Amino acid sequence: MSHDLFLAAREAMAKCHAPYSRFPVGAALRTEDGRIFAGANIEVASYPEGWCAETTALGHYVMGGGGRITEIAVVAEKMPRITPCGGCRQRLAEFAGPDARLHLCDETGVVQTLTMGEILPLGFAGDILK
Ligand code: THU
Repeated sequence: MSHDLFLAAREAMAKCHAPYSRFPVGAALRTEDGRIFAGANIEVASYPEGWCAETTALGHYVMGGGGRITEIAVVAEKMPRITPCGGCRQRLAEFAGPDARLHLCDETGVVQTLTMGEILPLGFAGDILK
């Protein structure tokens, strides 16, 4: 079931624009109605202006109408098991609840599955800002 989400993340990774780090990353999100939104990391010559694969996927998700995220897959071809960076954990947590499953992948498939609540315990929640 999660393998198709991994495949979407890996397919997205092939479209990365990472000429500076040469570190391709792909991410894919699935909503409860079955839609998949994927993305890759995009780098620019002014290094801090680039962004992560998870962020690209979230942009597609928001522009595609959003919805409840049930699972997320992340893959990086040069890592046996990528874990999302701190900023992306916060970005993912903005849209995916603590029960959403997060699949950490290698080049062949899912290596480990945990929840958003497990990868970002005690994250900053924006409820009080609303
Ligand atoms: N990167 C991601 O796309 N996601 C992460 O969670 C960690 C890092 C990207 C950013 C940059 O393009 C490259 O990996 C090296 O840091």
